[in-house]
Amino acid sequence: MAHRGIFITFEGVEGAGKTTQIQRLAAVLGPDVVFTREPGGTPVSERIRDIFLTSDRITTMTELLLIAAARAQHVDERIRPALAANQIVICDRFTDATVAYQGYRGGIDLEIIHQLNDVATGGLIPDITFILDLPPEIGLQRQQQDETHRDRLDKEPLEFHRRVREGYLAVAKAEPHRVKLIDATQSPDAVHAELFAKYQAYLSSK
Ligand code: TMP
Repeated sequence: MAHRGIFITFEGVEGAGKTTQIQRLAAVLGPDVVFTREPGGTPVSERIRDIFLTSDRITTMTELLLIAAARAQHVDERIRPALAANQIVICDRFTDATVAYQGYRGGIDLEIIHQLNDVATGGLIPDITFILDLPPEIGLQRQQQDETHRDRLDKEPLEFHRRVREGYLAVAKAEPHRVKLIDATQSPDAVHAELFAKYQAYLSSK
């Protein structure tokens, strides 16, 4: 479905440096950028995020349905109106996270994930997606230095994080035009430079 703004999403395993890179990109894009995140981004979706992140006994199907509900509200209330107003929207995680986490990590059939993503977004697809890629061992090590930022999923076994990475790599391979894979073991400066060059290439190809 056509929209006028630019919809940018960031993805990656835990500890890949998304927050830093989002801030750096936003700094060069100027003050009118809309920041948001998933799950979350609206009052209802943030309440769902809280349930999602803090519930110990939760099945993967429940995770998927909570994420889809939060996303439906978020797309309708926040993302689509901003894009219609010609704004740049940067979203910290979106539909590719569901493929990686509930699909590859959680084992839910990818066809169901794609269908539900499509229903929740009404067909909205990011214009460009940056996946910050690094081995989960390194990401988790970075995160362990900051215990306060660890949530339920961060504390899962390494094998789960490996599957998340595998999911993201598969997404990047399947959609190279939209999805830009960036080596996040590089320095933050080098990651930013690569990412911004890819963003500019996207703009000139539009
Ligand atoms: P964050 O750590 O980037 O704030 O994301 C919150 C957690 O939510 C993170 O562990 C990944 C998880 N998540 C999913 O499992 N599926 C999804 O579709 C999304 C958007 C996030």
